[in-house]
Amino acid sequence: MLARSFEVRPAQGVAGSIVVPGDKSISHRALMLCGIAQGMSEVTGFLAGEDCLATLTAMRALGVRIDQPTPTHVVIHGVGLRGLRAAGRALDMGNAGTAMRLFTGLLSAQAFDSRLIGDSSLMKRPMERVAKPLREMGADVRTHHGTPPVDILGARRLHGIKYLMPVPSAQVKSAVLLAALYAEGPTTVVAPAINRDHSERMLAACGVRVESVGLATTLHPPAALTDQRLEVPGDFSSAAFFIVAGLLGADDSGLLIRNVGLNPTRTGLLDVLRSMGGDIEILDPRQSGAEPVGDLRVRRSALRGVKMPATLVPLAIDELPVLFIAAACASGETVVTGALELRVKESDRIAAMSTGLTALGVVHEVLADGMRIEGRGNGAAFSGGEVDSFGDHRIAMSFAVASLRASDAISIRDVANVATSFPGFVELARSVGLAIHE
Ligand code: S3P
Repeated sequence: MLARSFEVRPAQGVAGSIVVPGDKSISHRALMLCGIAQGMSEVTGFLAGEDCLATLTAMRALGVRIDQPTPTHVVIHGVGLRGLRAAGRALDMGNAGTAMRLFTGLLSAQAFDSRLIGDSSLMKRPMERVAKPLREMGADVRTHHGTPPVDILGARRLHGIKYLMPVPSAQVKSAVLLAALYAEGPTTVVAPAINRDHSERMLAACGVRVESVGLATTLHPPAALTDQRLEVPGDFSSAAFFIVAGLLGADDSGLLIRNVGLNPTRTGLLDVLRSMGGDIEILDPRQSGAEPVGDLRVRRSALRGVKMPATLVPLAIDELPVLFIAAACASGETVVTGALELRVKESDRIAAMSTGLTALGVVHEVLADGMRIEGRGNGAAFSGGEVDSFGDHRIAMSFAVASLRASDAISIRDVANVATSFPGFVELARSVGLAIHE
């Protein structure tokens, strides 16, 4: 297969009003929780990207009937807590780390064995971080020297634990909470820092008793989960590319991004960009089920470099690649530290961003756990050139945004994975004014 690439020419600016696809984290969780709920659930605004479709296919293989009248509308016929059946084959998670980690938790509590596999990127990602607490609960989870395939032996009796999680990972926490649904006694996960809480919100909406006190989350095993009517908000992480695009290139009327999920455990990027001088307005803040949403109006802003507070890093972990693009366009230096987790995402995002920034002439220093970037201020911050996404969707989209301040065309190699989280990215980016071609 020919590797796909983007060609992005410098554009005049961006304008308009857009809606980004549904939230990836919430879409994965909706399929899993509604699948083990009692009765029929209906989800609209579902993210029909490859990652969540891997979860959908896996849930079907586990015996859950899921209808999809339109790509973003799914109807899930829940089989109840004990209704999943052996898939009879390895479950392929594709590129989706969230799917693999959360399924490891869910399947470790079932009466049957399972095997989880993924694409070449996922097969290199660390899985002991979920296997370890699950073993403490009595599960039999085996990794291959720490990475997939993950083999889960079923028919184990799980018991509740108190787990001090070493990394602020919502995937690890969620995997433990999913297993905890089936355990004897309550389970508590204590995180080292705030991280996304979509699982807790959705579990509570399904009638599960989940208590959060500070950084500790306790789940009490339920008798059943109730069905849901859920509208998935736009993915803040997808909106992030357009937030930065607006700051770099929107006119006075601004770029409007409607119906964006604004869960405070996800919006660290807003805080950092505002502290850099970014003009981002939240319009009509409202509640959509268990999640806060709003519309964002973003105007072109003269950004100043900052030292990012370490506490914001887990709240902006997926947005750091595009923050580096904003930092290159700020006046003065931006420093991000405490972001070691970037090394184990879909790519090593510190290395991938550094390679691309070098190719586009941005002065920066790679740190073990972050990056120091010398911004160029207003005007062109990037030369043209060729960058590699290393097969990572967020790297590809970040460099597409850089075109707004580039002196020449940027070509971005290996972009097929944009479809994992953001179907329709190219069309949407073109609709606001980016000169992007695939
Ligand atoms: C996610 C949690 C984060 C994030 C990922 C989605 C989730 O990963 O990077 O894109 O849905 O729980 P970690 O839990 O590894 O931090």
